Amino acid sequence: MTGNEILKLLSEVRHPARGDRDIVELGMVNSIDTDGGVRVVLGFPKRRDPLAEYLIGATRAALIRGGVKDPKVDTVVLEDAAPKKKGLEFDTECLRNVRHIVGVASGKGGVGKSTVAVNLACALARLGYKVGLADADVYGPSVPLMTGTEGASPMAEEQDGKELIIPLEKYGVKWMSIGYFAERGQALIWRGPMACNALKQMILQVKWGVLDFLLIDMPPGTGDIHISLLQDIPVEGAILVTTPQEVALADVEKGANMFRNKGIERPIFGLVENMAWFTPAEHPDEKYYIFGKDGGAHMAEDLGIELLGRIPLVQSIRESGDSGEPAALGTRPDAQAFLDLAARLASKLG
Ligand SMILES: Nc1ncnc2c1ncn2[C@@H]1O[C@H](COP(=O)(O)OP(=O)(O)OP(=O)(O)O)[C@@H](O)[C@H]1O
Ligand SMILES: [Mg+2]
Repeated sequence: MTGNEILKLLSEVRHPARGDRDIVELGMVNSIDTDGGVRVVLGFPKRRDPLAEYLIGATRAALIRGGVKDPKVDTVVLEDAAPKKKGLEFDTECLRNVRHIVGVASGKGGVGKSTVAVNLACALARLGYKVGLADADVYGPSVPLMTGTEGASPMAEEQDGKELIIPLEKYGVKWMSIGYFAERGQALIWRGPMACNALKQMILQVKWGVLDFLLIDMPPGTGDIHISLLQDIPVEGAILVTTPQEVALADVEKGANMFRNKGIERPIFGLVENMAWFTPAEHPDEKYYIFGKDGGAHMAEDLGIELLGRIPLVQSIRESGDSGEPAALGTRPDAQAFLDLAARLASKLG
């Protein structure tokens, strides 16, 4: 493949915070090397382009789509007086005015973590708190869909020589997700360390401002990405989401151990039992304990943590997630369940 052919592929990579211009047009392609495999070096004018890691991933993806096998994408920092350092540096400056950073986690996927995180954020905002939510699921971000902010493109802004992404504001909550920077339907292909960095940028290079609560919707599982996140981000503690059935206990335990790990040691503020019972829309007063009754309470007891809330399984929660209008904003009983959860968490954290 020739340099020009590669340039053509690279011109498909757009910088979302630069009026959607592509990286070739923006002069960001520093060098292309085709000796023994393709290696592209992207030049960044500032050390802290908040989308650097995203652009590296997008560049790799564009090359792979164009048929390049295992392309290498490196970065170099241009015109910077500071000592040249490869890679990215993070600090926690943008979290300085955030009072409580709370991770929403589980040991297992699909238990409703994102649903609980998004609704809890809205419920806390309804109670008058200043709230932000960072979607830390870089592989399958769901916050844009659940909040009806899909397709929005957050801007970047310079502050004290650093570039920060401005979160989106809707329903009184500040939202940030890597989903805003990916094209619709485009799968995000990351290599391990890249995913970690992209994720940290979504939390540490965002203009959060003054917040009472910053919730972090953690990716499913309990792998390296979680440990790295907990090491670099001052997450105060976590809430764990589970479904009530007996077999889920092992997963919740895994989730709990992640925070209790040596070297991590963060408190678990409580357990949220999601899908605690089923209530059909046409019989709002009935409760069917299809996954068993009081499973959450037993688990909380077993693990020595508080049961912070119980959320019913109702069709309207799923529908409101899909339509981008979180259930917690409504007046139905399920909204009340989220408001109760929010009030308990807030009083627990003071
Ligand atoms: N209490 C509930 N009632 C009805 N539907 C629910 C409820 N909780 C979650 N769901 C639905 O279940 C699906 C999975 O939920 P969600 O995406 O929140 O799970 P998750 O734990 O974040 O998944 P992942 O591990 O993929 O991140 C969604 O379609 C959501 O709308
Ligand atoms: Mg999720």
